[in-house]
This record gives sequence, structure tokens and C-alpha cells, in this order.
Amino acid sequence: MQAFRLLRVFNSEAARGYAGSKVRVGRNSLRFFERDSLVDGLARELANERALPIKELTEAFEFFAVARKYLRRTPVVVDLCSGHGLAGILFAVFERRTTEVVLCDQRKPEHFAEVWRAAVRVAPWIEDKVRFVEGKLAKTRDQLPPGAAVLGVHACGVLTDACIDVAVELGGPFAVMPCCRAHARNPAPQGLREALGEDVAYDVERTYRAEQAGYRVRWREIPAVITPMNRVLIAVLRAATPAAGSPS
Ligand SMILES: C[S@@+](CC[C@H](N)C(=O)[O-])C[C@H]1O[C@@H](n2cnc3c(N)ncnc32)[C@H](O)[C@@H]1O
Repeated sequence: MQAFRLLRVFNSEAARGYAGSKVRVGRNSLRFFERDSLVDGLARELANERALPIKELTEAFEFFAVARKYLRRTPVVVDLCSGHGLAGILFAVFERRTTEVVLCDQRKPEHFAEVWRAAVRVAPWIEDKVRFVEGKLAKTRDQLPPGAAVLGVHACGVLTDACIDVAVELGGPFAVMPCCRAHARNPAPQGLREALGEDVAYDVERTYRAEQAGYRVRWREIPAVITPMNRVLIAVLRAATPAAGSPS
């Protein structure tokens, strides 16, 4: 069973079931976030704002917890199909080396305002670091900073592949948590789809594709109690190795 890395209170049997709840965070959630820490402080403010369902909060925090180690050396982070944008915002809040976060979605959701207010209250240093770009990914991808790290948290179906394509174009690392894989468009070979199942085969194919583009890909997970679509593909460009025979 995958442990919670940031919101460790949910590792207890008594609290665990609550982590995947679709109920909005609010006063009832405050008992889970009582520590004197930035993590709990932010969760409390999100609860005070009734900003989003508890599942969205735990998902973003635990996604950040698995991805941060691999992406934090890249100063610019773009969160594609960001919705409320909490995953990207967490990089601005917790990672000193993150200088800019770009949240991109076809539309800014209503509850972005609550998430943003809560985050700025506990981490005022993020105010000038984060911007929201509204528009379809196909139209906005040209405006994204080269070299940026790309996040794609439950960008539905083939949008996950679009997130990976953008990362390859920008030449930065990426972390994606695929969902709603479109099986009819699954590019994996039939044999793999039959043997491994559609979802795993799809992610295997994505892994090969990224490796061929020069990445080293790792598979990680957030706790399945939050969501069964919990696999995170994290890809970092392999360090350029000198070609054989080149002068040292
Ligand atoms: C399942 S939500 C995930 C949102 C967020 N990343 C999260 O973890 O909660 C998918 C998001 O993709 C956005 N989206 C869908 N099609 C898009 C497109 N073509 N370009 C940009 N955003 C798109 C939707 O507006 C929605 O916010």
C-alpha cells in the first residue's frame, strides 16, 4: 500500500478513507491539518476557503510529493490542463528554486480564485511567480517558456500525450498522471494490450516514446485510496553523453 508522503495523517487507518472523499474541504477537515507546518497551514486555508473537494487537495499534494525531487531543479514549471492549478502552485509555495509557474487551461475554473487566495495568504512570496494562461493547449503551447518542466495531472485521455509532446518540444522534464486513457486510440501493440491490459500497455508505450526522445522515465504512484488512476510517469532528460570517439 502506497504511503502518503506529505499528508501523513492519512496513513492512519482512521483517517485514510477520508483522503479520496469528494466532499469539499471545510471546517470538518481542519482536524486533519493541525500541525504547525506550511503543509498543514496551506491545507487549513484551503479548508477555510472551502476551495475544492478533499480528493483534489490530496491528489495535488501527493502528486507534488512524488514529482518534486525530479523537477525542482528546473526553475520554470508549467501546469497544463491545470484546472484549479494546485499542483503547479505547490511548486511555487515549497520550492525555492521555482521562479515561475505558468498554469494553462482552456478556462480558468471558478474555484481557482479560492485556491489562489488560500495559497497567497500562507505563502505571499508566490504572488509574482504564478500566472494563468487561458486557452486551448493547441493555441497556447507556443507561448510556453523553453526548458520548462511540464505537469499534467489527469489531463484527460490523449491530452496527456499532448502534455508529453509539449515537454519534448520545450526540452524540459515532465510528470504526468494519466487518466481516461482512450483505448480506441491506444497506440500500444495489440499483444501488449492483451497481456498487460489497456491502461498499463498505453503507459508502457508512452514510456518507450519518451525514452526514445532522450528521457529516463520512472513510474511512481500516489496512494490508490485517493484515485485508482494513480500512476505518475516522471521523465528527466538523460545527461548528454559524449558521442563515442569524440575528443575528451
Ligand atoms: C480532469 S481536469 C484536470 C484538472 C487538474 N489538472 C486537476 O488535477 O484537477 C482536465 C482539465 O483539462 C482542461 N482541458 C480540457 N481540454 C483542454 C484543452 N484542449 N486545452 C487546455 N485545457 C483543456 C479542462 O478544462 C480541465 O480543467
